[in-house]
This record gives sequence, structure tokens and C-alpha cells, in this order.
Amino acid sequence: MNDELTIRPFTFSIDLDNCRITDADNHIKRNLTDMKNQYFYQEAYDMMVREDDTLLYEVYEKLVPEKSGELIQGLSIVHPGKVGKEYFMTKGHFHSIIDTAELYLCLKGKGMMVMETPEGEWAVEEMLPNKAVYVPGKWAHRSVNISDTDLMTLFIYPADAGHDYGTIIEKGFRKIVVEENDKPTIIDNPNWNL
Ligand code: PA5
Ligand code: NI
Repeated sequence: MNDELTIRPFTFSIDLDNCRITDADNHIKRNLTDMKNQYFYQEAYDMMVREDDTLLYEVYEKLVPEKSGELIQGLSIVHPGKVGKEYFMTKGHFHSIIDTAELYLCLKGKGMMVMETPEGEWAVEEMLPNKAVYVPGKWAHRSVNISDTDLMTLFIYPADAGHDYGTIIEKGFRKIVVEENDKPTIIDNPNWNL
């Protein structure tokens, strides 16, 4: 928690070609083994992990004080690929302060933002370059890459929001995105809440 950090106005640059923030303070990488039990196709997952702990997605962030009023911003890059029929995706989370929203602006690639509320409502929005997705407070969110190139998005959310991964790790999302007949298809997650 860096809520004591002092900052001054700053700028940052997005390297569109290389999918990175050139002057990022943080670079997070998530591999297959960070997503244990999150993919439906368990056999395919185990096989892929044995072969190579594939890099699934990366996040670049600028550091700001993690306190009310400030905004965290960064880039999320989900690489292309599938585990079985299920597309590469982020872990997904609620915010710890659950009623905090988030804005995602897609810069590259093609994806789906899968969302749901604790009450069981769900929504899936398309992510395409220059299209923004507004994730309202209370909605858990996960980015899914449905293309064969990187899915790159700029995200902005309240700096004190925090991440609650626990609920999703335990229950999963109600909907998953899989390839069926060569097309991305939203289906009920057979493993939801098991
Ligand atoms: O807060 C967000 O929603 C993003 O910054 C995500 O953290 C990012 O897209 C990576 O996803 P996750 O945190 O679910 O691993
Ligand atoms: Ni978030």
C-alpha cells in the first residue's frame, strides 16, 4: 500500500507497437500456474502447464498514492491463445471497495469483458479498438482475448478500490467464453460455484 507516496503531475507514453507503457513503475506478469482451477478444460490446462508455464497476460502501471481521490491507470495486455476451447483471460475480480467503477479503453485486438454482480446479474461487452467499456461499481470483471493477436486495454479506476480475487477464485464467473464452431461463444460455466 503506497498511500503516503507524494506525486506531481506527470505524463506517460503508450508504446502501441510493443504493447507497453514506456515509463511504467510496475510490470506484472501472470502465467498459467497463476490461474489454477480457473479454466474449465482441466486436462488441457494440466498438459499445457507440464509443457510450458505460458505467459497469459501482463499489466503495466504507473504508481500513484492508493487513496481516495486519486486514479490508478495502466495497460492490460492479454496474449492470444486458448486452454482447451476457453480463451486466455485475466483472473478477474471484484474491487475490495465493491462499489467502485472502472473504465477500460481498448487500444488493440478484440476481446470480451465478462462481468457479473454478487446478486447474479451478468453482462458481456465487446472490446474493440477505440471502444470503451464502463464497468459500474459492484460488477466483477474479467478481460477475455477472443482474437489471435494481443488484446491491449487502458484501464482507469479509483486508487483506493483494491482487488478482491477471493470470490472469483472460489466460485468462478457464471459465464465463460469458449470457441464453438470457430466462433467465440458465451456459455454457462459448468464449474460455477462448485
Ligand atoms: O483493476 C483492473 O481491473 C485491472 O487493472 C486488472 O487488474 C488487470 O486487467 C489484470 O486483471 P486481474 O487483476 O483480474 O488479474
Ligand atoms: Ni478492476
